[in-house]
Amino acid sequence: MTPQLLERPEPVCALDAWMPLPTRILDVHVENFNTRTFELQFVDPAVGDFYRFALGQFNMVYVPGIGEAAISISSDADKPRTLSHTIRVVGSVTRAIARMGAGGIVGLRGPFGAGWPLHELEGRDVVIMAGGIGLAPLRPVVYWILNNRNRCRRVVLLYGCRTPEDRIFSRELEAWAEGGQIDCMVTVDNATGEWAGPVGVVTALTRRIKVSAANTVVLVCGPRMLNRAAAWSFLQLHVPPTQVYVSLERNMNCGFGRCGHCQYGPKFVCRDGPVFRFSDIADIFAVEEI
Ligand SMILES: Cc1cc2nc3c(=O)[nH]c(=O)nc-3n(C[C@H](O)[C@H](O)[C@H](O)COP(=O)(O)OP(=O)(O)OC[C@H]3O[C@@H](n4cnc5c(N)ncnc54)[C@H](O)[C@@H]3O)c2cc1C
Ligand code: FES
Repeated sequence: MTPQLLERPEPVCALDAWMPLPTRILDVHVENFNTRTFELQFVDPAVGDFYRFALGQFNMVYVPGIGEAAISISSDADKPRTLSHTIRVVGSVTRAIARMGAGGIVGLRGPFGAGWPLHELEGRDVVIMAGGIGLAPLRPVVYWILNNRNRCRRVVLLYGCRTPEDRIFSRELEAWAEGGQIDCMVTVDNATGEWAGPVGVVTALTRRIKVSAANTVVLVCGPRMLNRAAAWSFLQLHVPPTQVYVSLERNMNCGFGRCGHCQYGPKFVCRDGPVFRFSDIADIFAVEEI
């Protein structure tokens, strides 16, 4: 299948980007104690036929009577008929979705935002660094790399969580590590149970890999502190700031650059991001409370 290289496809509901389109939950996978992956299909097959997303984009997920939340698309862009959203329960919308099972209906608006720069990965080493739920918007990149393995050089995935029980996609992480096509390392802040892997912050894993700075592209997604620490650790390894990409979170409302809710300095995270080239936001990133 032709790889999905568009980084910003037109939103599927471009005629009315405010109007959620109904999707049916086909299946629910329990990832951990507070996170589930929902497999969704548009109720109207005609919408499913032309819906396409770029890796790293998000949808506004709508629960009638409750509200909306921005959620990244975590599935394979080469299989667009079934979409996955991996959702951690933190508040009213995510709690309402978590109560739903197969057959439930949720609305989607999107896809929105700028995705990961696939053209930059061609012929380069790739380091993917994720923390917690931050692996969700990066999973489509892993799928793309596995589907197009000869298009990049060495690929390293570094993933960190609080405990082994906090991991998402744990069976896939094992399969990716065993498959040998990417180097996969997982670390936890607190070892529990039979955990025998690395313990410590995910940025410390950079000491275990060899980075060919000039020819490496870095993709980062995690909590705010991780994004900051990760970006700086790769800059210290002399990776140019133009080759470091970070996906940011901000409270969203419209999702497509109209309301100003997600303002980040002079940028709107929903429209100019959520994936930013570090060199484009370095000044804003340096400000503690923006
Ligand atoms: C571009 C983008 C992509 C996102 N992708 C995902 C995704 O793939 N999966 C996912 O689960 N979430 C994702 N989020 C985060 C999600 O949009 C928020 O967590 C959202 O606020 C949840 O809505 P809610 O109504 O359930 O919680 P709210 O009612 O908005 O929040 C309830 C409480 O939880 C706190 N809270 C909100 N968000 C977080 C958080 N992230 N961490 C800790 N506490 C929080 C709030 O401060 C508040 O006290 C994404 C956000 C953005 C901007
Ligand atoms: S959410 Fe409205 S401008 Fe970004």
